[in-house]
Amino acid sequence: MKRASVAVIPAAGFGTRFLPATKAVPKELLPILHRPAIEFIFDDIVGAQIPESVLITSENKSALAMHFSEAPNLESHLQSNGSEHLLEQHQNLLSNTTIKYAIQDRQLGLGHAVLQAEQLVGDRPFAVLLPDDILLGGSSFLTKMLAVSAQLKGSVLALKRVPPDMISRYGVVSASQIAANQYRIHGIVEKPSIHDAPSDLAVIGRYILPPTIFHILRSTPSGALGEIQLTDGIAKLIESEPVFGLIVEGDHYDVGTPQGMLACALTLGLEHAEMREHLLEIFRKWSQK
Ligand code: G1P
Repeated sequence: MKRASVAVIPAAGFGTRFLPATKAVPKELLPILHRPAIEFIFDDIVGAQIPESVLITSENKSALAMHFSEAPNLESHLQSNGSEHLLEQHQNLLSNTTIKYAIQDRQLGLGHAVLQAEQLVGDRPFAVLLPDDILLGGSSFLTKMLAVSAQLKGSVLALKRVPPDMISRYGVVSASQIAANQYRIHGIVEKPSIHDAPSDLAVIGRYILPPTIFHILRSTPSGALGEIQLTDGIAKLIESEPVFGLIVEGDHYDVGTPQGMLACALTLGLEHAEMREHLLEIFRKWSQK
């Protein structure tokens, strides 16, 4: 498989777990400290040197495109008071990737969302990054996934071992180990019950996929939760092409829930020289209550 030169980011969901915050503001723009969650995903894409991205959004999430477009008034205001550095990290992202947009007009599932990128991706292998999954140090992991895909000539999914009470939230694989942290995947099932789960290896939101998956997704019927699942498309792909798994490295946060987002923010805060003492002080106070 050629190296994936485009990333697909499904971001069209309603963000119901964050209501009412997400009534007007897309979930992907909610801040983790001062940065919107979606920028951590773009850190990975830019860090892994993927030059192009397709953001799947919906009609009512135009703020996402606005966030990634130029803001001449804001920029000249910041320049005139010497605060250009406040947008530096953001501008760096913009200058290192081209973002295109596709609309998912009905929320029919993750497989359906990915299918909306078909025209823009064309005949190229591509990466899928789910913005709910933030991996600290994620760009080097994505780089590794791309290398494994090139070396083994197949798709690659990010995997993590999860405890029994979490298994039914994920796509779960049956797999055999082929090297340290590497697996050959034989089957995959979306949100199995603990009794039906083929293993404790869950898929975390990073995938390297071939363009043939689009063809499969076009005829994939609805599955778990009544949605067209990417997992079901991959289950079909496994019948004709090799699919591998790579255990995630670095901390993983599910920022699709308020508590996961808070955990991610706290971790980043504790790593931040100026915020650390302030946070530790809060914890000390609470531990004495
Ligand atoms: C999606 C996928 C699931 C995967 C998970 C990772 O589920 O369908 O296979 O394990 O992301 O976060 P969702 O979180 O959208 O329910």
